[in-house]
Amino acid sequence: MSNQDYFETLDNLTPGQIVKELDRFIIGQNAAKKSVAIALRNRWRRLNADESIRDEIVPNNIILIGPTGVGKTEIARRLAKLSKAPFIKVEASKYTEVGYVGRDVESMIRDLTDIGVAIVKMEMQDRVKKRAEELVEERILDLLIPPVKKPGTGTLTSSTGFRSQSEEFDPATASDEELNQRTREKFRDKLKKGELDERKVELEVRQSGTPTMQIFGPQGLEELGMNLQDMLGNLAPKKTKKRQVKISEARKMLLAEESEKLIDHDAAVTEALKRVQSAGIVFLDEIDKIAGGSSGEGKGGPDVSRQGVQRDLLPIVEGSTVSTKYGMVKTDHILFIASGAFHIAKPSDLIPELQGRFPIRVEMDSLTEEDFYLILTTPQNALTKQYQAILASEGVTLHFDDDAIREIARIAAEVNLSIENIGARRLHTILSSVLEELLFAVPDDIKTGEITIDKAYVEKQLDSLVKNRDLSHFIL
Ligand SMILES: Nc1ncnc2c1ncn2[C@@H]1O[C@H](COP(=O)(O)OP(=O)(O)OP(=O)(O)O)[C@@H](O)[C@H]1O
Ligand SMILES: [Mg+2]
Repeated sequence: MSNQDYFETLDNLTPGQIVKELDRFIIGQNAAKKSVAIALRNRWRRLNADESIRDEIVPNNIILIGPTGVGKTEIARRLAKLSKAPFIKVEASKYTEVGYVGRDVESMIRDLTDIGVAIVKMEMQDRVKKRAEELVEERILDLLIPPVKKPGTGTLTSSTGFRSQSEEFDPATASDEELNQRTREKFRDKLKKGELDERKVELEVRQSGTPTMQIFGPQGLEELGMNLQDMLGNLAPKKTKKRQVKISEARKMLLAEESEKLIDHDAAVTEALKRVQSAGIVFLDEIDKIAGGSSGEGKGGPDVSRQGVQRDLLPIVEGSTVSTKYGMVKTDHILFIASGAFHIAKPSDLIPELQGRFPIRVEMDSLTEEDFYLILTTPQNALTKQYQAILASEGVTLHFDDDAIREIARIAAEVNLSIENIGARRLHTILSSVLEELLFAVPDDIKTGEITIDKAYVEKQLDSLVKNRDLSHFIL
């Protein structure tokens, strides 16, 4: 997919369609879905806007506000997937102010760029996959049956121990080349059928770096977009080692090597930079953790540093140029989606300039028992479907009775209320408790067949846990 094609896929992503796509994975949260859909569509609108104003149009950065486990990260992740945009999720709280030990905020743009380059390269490699596969086949054949150098001299095909057996062909009169060619074709056939997958060949494997020597660059070097390890790695002679590998494995290793050789790296980088700058999405999690504390008690210490991070963040969100190892990246049109629970701090505790750069605030809803029921059953990646797939791999067909799922949803809501509200994450812990015994019994005690989880079974597995508060603290 070239950038042209890429931006064309955006054509079809109207706000309504984006919401529809998100609905396949996320239950409820309609306000949030709507805002992110608008933000995404606005990028397409910008790229199709009159050139005189195009660069002036700023992205609608969003703050998603809501308790833990209600789908904040999930929405952002799905959005990125469906728009095929370079996407990175970072925790705001892990950054430190420039000049202090730790990661500076610009590194998120460098990481995003790495991701963008990787995406574009992967797309390009996909396009040359067929050609690469052909080359790999030749290389494996070369390993199995080294080609004859010059007719009459060099390696004899027969020296490899393989000989063509066909009738209408007389090996005695055939040239070495012919023999070799015939043998190769025979093996090509076997290779294609996967009949040789288990056979081993000797392969030169490049050893990556010197594992015993780790290099720590001085602070600030990263800012130059340089990576000391890479630089030294390129200077040091490439070490290779001969290894015996199965043909099935060799195929994968050689495919990576060949497709890497076939693509145009400079073009990939140019394309990636363009895409990062006009379509990149940075998901800034836990933004509330760097908010607040500018006045009153608790001044100094961590608060000063938090504000420092906010101030460092400002130019990036506002639009500046960050140097990366692939070149300069302008952040003006990168979309930032921030998120946080904002239990203690409020969005208004962010420094004013930063608040201004996140004009859209969306409150996410707490999830209800009914939501839990839907989350358990409807999304494409619903937990019940995941467990069904897991057990299907063992030949066990898993059914959930409807009232069993209702019961799980009810207990999840109850435990969230009585212990701590961790949102839909509660479903993971509860369902794994319900199914633990079963997951352990397969395949030792239960080999194949159909298993139905009914309400009574759910009650049996969970009752003691739910009733015992101490236990539920630890397990549910
Ligand atoms: N509305 C929802 N629909 C479907 N699945 C959901 C929903 N909300 C949460 N989930 C599921 O719950 C898990 C946690 O959700 P997510 O990571 O989005 O939480 P979050 O809101 O980002 O929480 P935190 O504030 O702790 O980061 C994910 O596995 C996600 O699929
Ligand atoms: Mg999250």
